[in-house]
Amino acid sequence: MIPIAKPMIGAEEKEAVFQVLDSGMLASGEIVRQFENEFAAYLNAEHCIAASSGTTALEVALRALGIGPGDKVLTTPFSFIASTNSIIYTGATPVFAEIDEQTFNLDPDKLESALAADPSIKALLIVHLFGQACDMDRVMALVKKYKLLLIEDCAQAHGSLWKGRKVGTFGDAGCFSFYPTKNMTTGEGGAVVTNNAETAEACRLLINHGMAVRYHHDRIGYNYRLTNMAAAIGRCQLKKLDGFNQARRENAAYFTEHLNHSNVIAPVINPDAWSNFHQYTIRVLNGKRDALADLLSKKGIGYGIFYPLTIPEQKCFEQFNFQTSWGISDKVKEQVLSLPIHPALSEADRREIVETINQFEI
Ligand SMILES: Cc1ncc(COP(=O)(O)O)c(C=O)c1O
Repeated sequence: MIPIAKPMIGAEEKEAVFQVLDSGMLASGEIVRQFENEFAAYLNAEHCIAASSGTTALEVALRALGIGPGDKVLTTPFSFIASTNSIIYTGATPVFAEIDEQTFNLDPDKLESALAADPSIKALLIVHLFGQACDMDRVMALVKKYKLLLIEDCAQAHGSLWKGRKVGTFGDAGCFSFYPTKNMTTGEGGAVVTNNAETAEACRLLINHGMAVRYHHDRIGYNYRLTNMAAAIGRCQLKKLDGFNQARRENAAYFTEHLNHSNVIAPVINPDAWSNFHQYTIRVLNGKRDALADLLSKKGIGYGIFYPLTIPEQKCFEQFNFQTSWGISDKVKEQVLSLPIHPALSEADRREIVETINQFEI
């Protein structure tokens, strides 16, 4: 069986966790601070606040930026649900714009039409989906023109670049996930990065019950802290991240070079974007996606369908009466198929994946 994802945990991570266990300081402490400093330095960001997940990082970032009831946040209908859920948690209203068919990221032209149609939109929450940066030239121009707050969901984009600059550092806040399937993991975990000291301070309060001085609670907050055990894993993983990303990119290059099937479109990466290839997502045309998925299953090759439904059509959002019909997102959700791309793939795994797809009879 070739799994769709595989956390890369080595002896260093195990040793680091044992050290924390031996120290007796299990909850958030010095190791979390070190991880935050190192992650900020890696991204070239001024502040990093570790959180318990990517989802809580997003929620905290939105709240720290003052997003709440009555505010509208423009986002993508084609992502993991957490990007929209975080908006809903704050009491704000998500507004959706269509994606680009090639990159699966928000289409800047559609963003512009949505912003022109509704001047009350206060913030933009973009997702660098599957590891590919959104078109940050266009996004930043819109942010400036419409005076928007910008939150980057980088849950899938650790180390990804736009014109050489790491994503997560363009907006008012960048939010990361360290879930085990991500390019680096802490088990569960997340982080907000920002270059704004006030935003950082607000995030720090929010993840820790609004408490700057012990048992003095300045605002209502949460327990969204990361543990020292998780941070110890994260510190080891961060040292390996560039290597992991490089291995993913080599696997991606191999697939793109060797996949050759009339019904399969390889991922399209904008030349200005350097993808960490969190996912290698092909499009399977002519309604053949599920048949190909079945074949992969039979051959013991894992795959992912990210995502089978758009966010606005999810059952849990029925009450919101979102627009549920999306031309491109609806088309793409029927076509996408993500292949194993993780660093543990062997030469033989890669060959088997390519041969299985190339021999797929339509
Ligand atoms: C695009 C996106 N946003 C947010 C999240 C939420 O991260 P987490 O699972 O760590 O809460 C994820 C992770 O699955 C994601 O893929």
